[in-house]
Amino acid sequence: MTSFTLNGKKMEVTAEPDTPLLWVIRDEAGLTGTKFGCGIGMCGACTVHVGGKAQRSCVMPLSAAEGLEIVTIEGLDPKGEHPVQKAWQDLQVPQCGYCQSGQIMQAAAVLKDNPDITDAQIDEQMTGNLCRCMTYTRIRAAVRQAATTMKGG
Ligand code: FES
Ligand code: FES
Repeated sequence: MTSFTLNGKKMEVTAEPDTPLLWVIRDEAGLTGTKFGCGIGMCGACTVHVGGKAQRSCVMPLSAAEGLEIVTIEGLDPKGEHPVQKAWQDLQVPQCGYCQSGQIMQAAAVLKDNPDITDAQIDEQMTGNLCRCMTYTRIRAAVRQAATTMKGG
């Protein structure tokens, strides 16, 4: 049995300890906002927050979640109005949308640690999240807008 907190609710899961956290989130908890892309930690579609940090859930075994706080896109903000989500809506970032939960979770974690982010840091910390639809220009602009909001500007 592995116990952890998922979007503020206690979870107790009996799946095998080496089950990827992504499958527990999607199949056991039924939260399908977190996506499967590559399954090898390379694309970022499965990004969630673990202890407040961005983590690729496809390569994190369930056993590593013991006692930790996990947040998915569904739990980022009770009303879906996190500054990053609002900027994504304002600038109409998504195209097909598949990568976007991961992009938003990555951006939210990065900005929490560094709301004074520079353009170079945005490039460095966001381009590891892949987008087949090439929405990178809008992603950069939305991260900038969210950063301004989060700084109170
Ligand atoms: S599905 Fe996890 S990084 Fe690609
Ligand atoms: S919006 Fe389609 S993969 Fe990013």
